[in-house]
Amino acid sequence: MDKLYFGSNLKMYKTVRETVDFLTQMEALTKDIDRSGMELFILPSFTALDAAAKAVDPAYIRLGAQNMCWEEQGQFTGEISPLMLRELGLDLVMAGHSERRHVFGETDMEENRKVLSAVSHGMTALLCIGETAEDKRFSVSREVLRRQLKIGLFGVVQEDVSRIRVAYEPVWSIGTQGTPAEPAYVEEMHAEIQRCLEELFGEMAGEIPVLYGGSVNPQNAESLITLPSVDGLYVGRAAWQAENFNLLIRQAMQAAGKA
Ligand code: PGA
Repeated sequence: MDKLYFGSNLKMYKTVRETVDFLTQMEALTKDIDRSGMELFILPSFTALDAAAKAVDPAYIRLGAQNMCWEEQGQFTGEISPLMLRELGLDLVMAGHSERRHVFGETDMEENRKVLSAVSHGMTALLCIGETAEDKRFSVSREVLRRQLKIGLFGVVQEDVSRIRVAYEPVWSIGTQGTPAEPAYVEEMHAEIQRCLEELFGEMAGEIPVLYGGSVNPQNAESLITLPSVDGLYVGRAAWQAENFNLLIRQAMQAAGKA
């Protein structure tokens, strides 16, 4: 893949003002990086999306939402619809982050409805997948990833493949309790993901960027981004301070020979 992808999900951390400050800094710090070779995307909280969309130039930072209901409107208290996100000019939404699956109990079938709704509304869907520590212990990581992909992307037609991206984030590697994954293990899982995507979409699978996420930090970014089947890094904690994220991106791009 010609392009590298760097993204961050801000989870439930930044207020509107903090989000705008962070994005303004990220835009200024990374403006000189040629966007034909990389995409930077950031997913703020719902409450900050409107101000964020007004504060950044989409040519430098693509904004997206962390979650979405699959329905356009209706009796879904507390949910946000694709029409509401489109109204803000957004065209990227995540489905299936580990915290949605494991804290809020979302299922593969629900992630699939979100993915299909996102693409049918002209948005790009970022499907997150990842095995738990228990899955890994019982050696069913591959089966789990395949199940999440096959159900999560069920019904996606060839014409919409360019609107799909995948983030592989092993649950055991995410967040403050997470353990960074070994690059060799990441490559094995990414290769499996690639095989599964090829089974689903044939040659078009090559158009789907597959990012790695989970305890990405300045120490491991280089060894992860240089793996043959990793197209980008999806960064949490190490990205939430603009200078740190900027340095991490530059370091990774250099290591990947794109700087
Ligand atoms: P982390 O989060 O980088 O803080 O582990 C990753 C994620 O949840 O996407």
